Formats: sequence, C-alpha cells, structure tokens
Amino acid sequence: MRIVTVVGARPQFVKAAPMSRVLRANHDEYLIHTGQHYDYEMSRVFFEGLDIPEPDINLAVGSGGHGAQTGTMLTDIAEVLTAQRPDLVLVYGDTNSTLAAALAAAKLSIPIAHVEAGLRSHNRAMPEEINRIMTDRVSTLLLCPTRTAVDHLRREGIDHGVSLPGDVMYDVAAWAATRVSAERGDLLNQFGVDNQPFCLATIHRPSNTDDQVVLAGIVRALTNLPTLVVWPLHPRTRAKLESFDMLHAVTEAENIRLLPPLGYLEFVGLLVHADVVMTDSGGIQKEACFHQTPCVTLRDETEWVETVAAGWNVLAGADPDRIRDAFQSVQSQPRQALADAELMDGRAAQRINNELEGWFEGSPASYSAAVPRASLNLSNSVRTR
Ligand code: UD1
Repeated sequence: MRIVTVVGARPQFVKAAPMSRVLRANHDEYLIHTGQHYDYEMSRVFFEGLDIPEPDINLAVGSGGHGAQTGTMLTDIAEVLTAQRPDLVLVYGDTNSTLAAALAAAKLSIPIAHVEAGLRSHNRAMPEEINRIMTDRVSTLLLCPTRTAVDHLRREGIDHGVSLPGDVMYDVAAWAATRVSAERGDLLNQFGVDNQPFCLATIHRPSNTDDQVVLAGIVRALTNLPTLVVWPLHPRTRAKLESFDMLHAVTEAENIRLLPPLGYLEFVGLLVHADVVMTDSGGIQKEACFHQTPCVTLRDETEWVETVAAGWNVLAGADPDRIRDAFQSVQSQPRQALADAELMDGRAAQRINNELEGWFEGSPASYSAAVPRASLNLSNSVRTR
C-alpha cells in the first residue's frame, strides 16, 4: 500500500512514532509535516527523541488564524496528494492539520484513515471538536481508541468502517516508561529542582490563555498550591503571560518552576514522578492514567471520560477554588483501572496496520465486534506506584 501520513502538531508526532515504525515495515509511507508546529522544542525535538522518520516534505505553514492556517494547509496538501496519488491518507487526532488533510483527501476521492476517531468533548466552542466531527464524517476507516468513541460514532449514525484497535498512545507510553529515570531525585536535579513532591502543569487552550481574567485565575490557583509546581510553558501561554504583564508574578512565585516546552521523554519523566498533573491538554489526561499519576483537568469537559470514571481525573474548569479542591480530592479518592484495559498491550499500532491491510484486501477486521468487554484491573498500567 502507498500511504501518505499527515502530521503537524506535537501530539501527532508522538502518535506517528509507533505507527510509522509498523507502517514502514509493511508498506510505503510518505510523511507530510504541515509545519503547524515549527519551533525546535515544539517539533524537531520529538523527531529526534522518538526516532520518527524525517518528513518527506515540510509545508512550513506556520501559525495564523484558524481559517488561514487550515486553508493554506488544505491547498498545499492537495498539491502533494495530487502528485503522490496514495491508496490512503492517514491522519491523527483533531488539530487543524488533521482537518486540512482529511478535506484535501476527500476532495480528491482518496480514502482516509482516522486514528483517534470518535472522540467527542461535546463542546463545539473547541476548534478541535469541529475538526474531529468533520474528519470523522469524511473518513473511510475510523480507528477508535475506546469503546466510548465507537458509541459516539454509532450515535451519529456512523458504523461503516469503524473499528476498535485501541490507543496508540498506550504503545508510546509503555515504550517511554522503560526509558525514563527510575529515580525522582535524578530527574528533578536535571531540571534544577530539589527532590520534593511536585505538581506538573501544562496550559495551552485558547479558552484558558486568551482571556486575562481566566488566565489570572489559573495563575492564582497554581501559585497558591501547597506544593512545588513544575510548569513547561507553551509558546502561546508565554506570549499571553507577557502581554497581560503577568509573567513576573509567575517567575517570582516561590513555588513555581517555569521550564521551556519539553521533549517527549523529558516530559514523561516528569509525569511519571509527579504527585499530580494539572493540564488542559487532551492527551496528557490519558497519559497521566497510563503512568498512574492523578490528573486535574483545567476544563469543564473531557474527551477521555473513562479517566474520570476510573477516578484518575477530576474536571476543575478554570476556577481557583475548584482547582484547589480538585487538587486535594484527586489524590485521596478511590481509583480503579481504565476501561478498555485489555486493549492496552502495546499492539494498537499493529492492529491499526492490520485493519488498513484488511480494508485494502477487501475484508476489514472488526475489532469492535471481536473484543469482549472484560473485567478490568490495573495490570495493564505501564507502571505500579
Ligand atoms: C494545537 C492544536 C491542539 C493541540 C496542540 C498541541 C489546533 C486547533 N490545535 O494547538 O489541538 O492540543 O496543538 O500543542 O490545531 N507557536 C509557536 N511555535 C510553534 C507553534 C506554535 O510559537 O512551534 C505559537 C504561535 O504563536 C501560535 C500559537 O503558539 O499562534 C498556537 O499554535 P497553534 O498550532 O495554532 O495551536 P496550539 O495551541 O499549539
């Protein structure tokens, strides 16, 4: 099979690591990097740290308004697809790069495989929610990470081409867990922090960064936490803190340690050793569960509802009081294994490859039918605390 894969933003590079490895062992893959993320710490560091093949082309689209960014990518990707004429276009997740690639392929009648299909936050104010819905609508193969995702698609009347190979993020998490330092002290020293309890924070959603009052509330919550807060800053968040004249307050707060955006293994190292993670990212909520780190999500809804149901994740929005309460409760409440634990075996990428091959040969396997609902336990977490 000739497959064109399109990536552009951090979470997609991470998913491409196990997927490209399997695809290239069996097929001919051409990798497009849209250039949505372009700083060394936002892009190149992932390719180096995760051993992802060099992109065959970088479209260098860069930042911009959603319309301009998505539109430019659509035009440029369509040109590459016209020249490459693949059997299939593979896209990941829910970024503007995902949507642009899906639309470009759909308009050229090229089949689309969507890895991480069926996720929904049910909040259409999130650009990612629109990207997911639109991408699922035009996809031929909808590769779901969870049963909840399969159910979402069914409710929207999509059941053709839907399968449940599991979450490739687990594949990466299991790989990474064997490579990060086992010693918390060693790891923290690397970041110039004494060996002590800490909360890892990441914030980048426009809904949390672009409104001064909201961002000030989050900063107040973090600076008042009774623990060290290690906070790798997304470029947008840094720019907003500067423009609202709040960066000083953060750098001068005694309990905050600001870091630049981190590579994947550095970040996982911190995640594995953190006592709590606070994030508005989608993927980090799930990764926190994989590494058994309690998570406070600075949003009012989540695509990963399983993490909340299992007790590993508490939704706190952006209100300082709720954030403080969630910080306490997530550490003390009972927790159990994630749903779909039987799919966490490090073979999701291989199952996706098999699904693509089955489709290409005219007989798609149906994991949604094949995988029974099992009783759940913690045995598939990537580590034991
Ligand atoms: C994008 C995705 C989001 C994903 C996130 C992971 C969309 C709509 N959003 O959000 O789903 O969770 O990536 O990080 O696609 N910037 C830099 N250097 C870079 C990249 C960005 O300085 O290398 C700055 C620019 O000012 C840019 C801003 O960050 O305008 C936002 O970047 P953008 O790619 O538009 O969205 P993210 O917030 O990163």
